[in-house]
Amino acid sequence: MGVTTMDPTTTTLPDDATAASDGGSAASEPAAEDVTFPENLVGIRTLEADQIRLVLDTAEHFRAISERPIKKVPALRGKTVVNLFFEPSTRTRTSFEIAGKRLSADVQSISASTSSVVKGETLLDTARNIEAMLPDILVIRHASAGAADFLAKHCSAAVVNAGDGAHEHPTQALLDALTIQRSKGTVAGLRVVIVGDIGHSRVARSNILCLRKLGAEVAVAAPPTLMPAEAEALGVTVHHRIEPALEGADVVMMLRIQVERGGKLNVPSTAEYFKLFGLTERRLGLARDDAIVMHPGPMNRGVEIASDVADGPRSVILEQVTNGLAVRMAILYLLAGGNPTNVESTA
Ligand code: NCD
Repeated sequence: MGVTTMDPTTTTLPDDATAASDGGSAASEPAAEDVTFPENLVGIRTLEADQIRLVLDTAEHFRAISERPIKKVPALRGKTVVNLFFEPSTRTRTSFEIAGKRLSADVQSISASTSSVVKGETLLDTARNIEAMLPDILVIRHASAGAADFLAKHCSAAVVNAGDGAHEHPTQALLDALTIQRSKGTVAGLRVVIVGDIGHSRVARSNILCLRKLGAEVAVAAPPTLMPAEAEALGVTVHHRIEPALEGADVVMMLRIQVERGGKLNVPSTAEYFKLFGLTERRLGLARDDAIVMHPGPMNRGVEIASDVADGPRSVILEQVTNGLAVRMAILYLLAGGNPTNVESTA
C-alpha cells in the first residue's frame, strides 16, 4: 500500500499549509507525494528519515483539523480498525480510538483481560480470528518484543505497533518528534537528553532511533542497572549522572522506571532515586534557558520528576498527548493509502 492510492485529482493543500512544518528538511528532499509509506508500522528502525518527515507533515494537517469545531473527516469511512491491547494503557489506547473515530473508521478495542487470551488462546489464534472479520488495520500493544512484527507476518491487515515489550514504541517517538519540532522549529542539531530507565524502555529505543535519523544529538543518563550494555552502539553519549547530561540540553525527556519489565532501583528507595536522578527546578537550571521538559506518561511524581517541573512553564507533557492524536491519525491515514497532499480534501 503506497501513499498515492487516493484520488489525486481532489483539492490539494494551500502552500502555507504544506509548509507548516520543516523538521530540518532541505530543498533537495523529495516532495511528500514522492515518499512511499510502508505497509505496516512495526518500528522506527525500518523507517527512512523522509518517511518520518512525511508522518510529521501529515500530522500537522490533522492537528489543524483537530482544532476545528467539527473534528471529524471522512478519510477512513468504511475502514475497520481493531485495537488489540494486551498491556495496560491510558493515553495510547484512547489516542488510537479517538484517532480512528475522527477519521470516520469503525473502531473496535479489545483488551487482554476481557478477551479469550485469559482462556488460553494464543496471540496467533486471536489474530487469525480477528483477521477472519476482515479489519483493515490492527493496532497491537503486547508485553513481548516482536509481537507486532509477528502479527504483520501473519496478517494481511496493516499492523501498527503500539508498544512491544522493551523493543519499540514508534508512534510515541513520532509524537515526541512532532512535539519537539513544534516547540523548537526543527529537530536537527538539537541536544536531547533522555533520563531514566533506558535499558527497559521501548520509548527510549524508538526515540533514539527517530531523533538521530532527524539529525539530533542524543545523550542518555541512568544508573548502571538501568542502562543497556549496548547503549553506546546506539550512537548516544552515555552518562551515569544526571547533572553533566543536562548541561546545555535543548530537550529533557524523563522516563519512568519500568518495574513490570524488571527495572530495578540500585538505591534503597524511590526517594533516594529522586535525590540522585529526579528532575528538579534546580537541576533543570543546568539545561538551556529555553529547554523543554517531556515525559511520555504515566509519570511518577516525586520519583523521576518533581511536580513543579511537570506542571511548570517548560513542560510540554500535555502537548505530547495532543500531538499523539494527530500523529496516530496520520499513521492510520497513511497506512490506509491516504495521500498526504490531499488531507484537506477529506474534510
Ligand atoms: C509508555 C509505554 O507504555 O511504553 N507510555 C506510553 O505509551 N505513553 C511509557 C511507560 O509506560 O513508561
